[in-house]
Amino acid sequence: MYNLFRQCIFQMDAETAHNFTLQCLKFAGHPLLQTLLKSVIGTPKGLAKTVMGVRFPNPIGLAAGADKNGDAIDGFGALGFGFVEVGTVTPLAQDGNAKPRQFRLIEAEGIINRNGFNNNGIDYLIENVKKARYRGVIGINIGKNKQTPLEHGKDDYIFCLNKAYNYAGYITVNISSPNTPDLRQLQYGDYFDDLLQSIKLRQAILADQYNKYVPIAVKIAPDLSEAELVQIADTLVRHKMDGVIATNTTISRDNVTGLKNAEEQGGLSGKPLQQKSTAIIKRLNEELKGQIPIIGSGGIDGVQNAQEKIAAGAQLLQVYSGLIYHGPKLVKELVKTIK
Ligand SMILES: Cc1cc2nc3c(=O)[nH]c(=O)nc-3n(C[C@H](O)[C@H](O)[C@H](O)COP(=O)(O)O)c2cc1C
Repeated sequence: MYNLFRQCIFQMDAETAHNFTLQCLKFAGHPLLQTLLKSVIGTPKGLAKTVMGVRFPNPIGLAAGADKNGDAIDGFGALGFGFVEVGTVTPLAQDGNAKPRQFRLIEAEGIINRNGFNNNGIDYLIENVKKARYRGVIGINIGKNKQTPLEHGKDDYIFCLNKAYNYAGYITVNISSPNTPDLRQLQYGDYFDDLLQSIKLRQAILADQYNKYVPIAVKIAPDLSEAELVQIADTLVRHKMDGVIATNTTISRDNVTGLKNAEEQGGLSGKPLQQKSTAIIKRLNEELKGQIPIIGSGGIDGVQNAQEKIAAGAQLLQVYSGLIYHGPKLVKELVKTIK
């Protein structure tokens, strides 16, 4: 059935197809339709796992960017995900980059996007999270507004952290999107140190205020040198971060040269990213030595490469592009198989 749906939506440009699918999933989030959906695709029963101190009903999650505003949490949840990460959300609503900004690389099962954190702002997202009936874990992925200078980027993260803390199962600090100018600089040196220090301080205050501890993960890029990766791992450990998501999209075009759309600017995801992100997870795991759990993301499109990421050291997995190319049956397969 998904093949037919895919044939139809692939006639549309990538972003229109995405928005249409989101509307369908929003609709599917209605309780009656959820029951129908579950009876058609079945509800896969996975293995619950406690990571970052949070109990996940199963280790397969939806990666950030698919539901930036939390509009379709129940619909995505009905596909069987153990966790749904919404966002990236910023303090203020913003339009993102000019369209078109999302491109399929069909032969390679890849996607390039340069959306630039288009979202309706944190207040809108929080209202949706409050309304969600989904019983899995909701992660809230936070970022900074484009017009906020890098030196004040920290303030945007703290603003979103304050708003999201009481409603999130965990929070992700996204400093690895290639589509907000200079954002990736926050991954390095004093910027990184300073950001993590402020975030941990604020987390302690909020934990006291709400009398609960909400873990915070940092999402990193795959485009890191060996020295950068070692430094990032060291800084994450030093600040006792709760988790790390590896990885975001890549700016490399190594595996896709010559393909249609390969020259578009932005972050590449899907199958062409698969091996690169697994290599980062493996190397990160060697550095972290089990001190911080890793959530693996990048090109997961089947059980075998999902298992490779687990073997490399990931404790939880996230999927986005694979869902577009393979549909809900991918989630079902992964949930049933991955421990
Ligand atoms: C269209 C699109 C938009 C994305 N937007 C975000 C985002 O807003 N925040 C984020 O942290 N990651 C974002 N990502 C990255 C994904 O969360 C994921 O880390 C990456 O695509 C690798 O996984 P995949 O190969 O399964 O897609 C986006 C990816 C795509 C394809």
